[in-house]
Amino acid sequence: MSLLSSLQSQFSIDGVASIVNCSDDFPVIQISNSYADASIALDGGQVLTFQPKLQQPVLWLSKKAIYKPGKSLRGGIPVCWPWFSDHPTEKSFPAHGFARNHRWQLEAIEQQTDQSTLVRLTLPASDATRNLWPQPFELELKVVVGTELSVSLTMTNLSDHPCTMTSALHTYLQVGDIREIVISGLDQTPYMDKVQDFSLFEQQGNVRFSGELDRIYQNTRSDIIIHDGVLKRQLKIAKSGSLSTVLWNPWVNKSAAMNDFEEDGYQHMLCVEAANAADDIIQLQPAQSHCLQTVLSVLDQHA
Ligand code: BG6
Repeated sequence: MSLLSSLQSQFSIDGVASIVNCSDDFPVIQISNSYADASIALDGGQVLTFQPKLQQPVLWLSKKAIYKPGKSLRGGIPVCWPWFSDHPTEKSFPAHGFARNHRWQLEAIEQQTDQSTLVRLTLPASDATRNLWPQPFELELKVVVGTELSVSLTMTNLSDHPCTMTSALHTYLQVGDIREIVISGLDQTPYMDKVQDFSLFEQQGNVRFSGELDRIYQNTRSDIIIHDGVLKRQLKIAKSGSLSTVLWNPWVNKSAAMNDFEEDGYQHMLCVEAANAADDIIQLQPAQSHCLQTVLSVLDQHA
């Protein structure tokens, strides 16, 4: 029996959940319930799409995204773990860790009593992951598709010594026009500016975009609201288990240099990442767990 047919017979739910190959050897879970449609790739444990019924897509997914095992897709919600950005000491290791480049295992798809749908995935260790991260670990992703989209990443240290790690739920959001976007929730928050040599600044008022922006906001638990006058909606990004929020838009030149970024795609996307990044390092004792969660919702259709 092929992987796809065995997943389909074990996990599909009539009228709600199915597993399809969205390109050669690229299984994707498709959810459609009373609240929303969503899709999740086993490769990377990556939520690709989330669209509440009768609304526009919440997540941005590049039209030039490459559907290939071992390569993180441009868009949706890549999982960055066990390090965010570059590895602290090994410069040849992949950026943003390895969780986004490996195939996850589907553990369960369940209808909840409120008719939302829970999908549970885990990342198995392999020789390839052990070469990059020898410590035994457990990594679980829970995605709940309802009126909101909830994504929770639980990391557990299964080794016999303390471990440190960083992480992010690297959420690509769909926006009408990046130049018109206003972000609230970060006033007076300190941030590290990657575009200005990692210098430290403090946010004054709302965030607006007029060029490349790549910042780690620090010491913040706040919800972020994206006010989108073009799509006429407000998106709320709530989080827990995170003291850092990353904002990213590559703008013209950086996006043009990426082969999986559609032309002018930067105008219609924005990353708001619930993270443990920079000084927000997670230290786990043996058997200890940490849960990083982000919850996305459309507040209303009038920005
Ligand atoms: C962001 C980083 O989180 O991810 C940026 O802050 C980086 O510096 C971006 O360019 C995209 O990374 P990647 O590896 O997916 O191209």
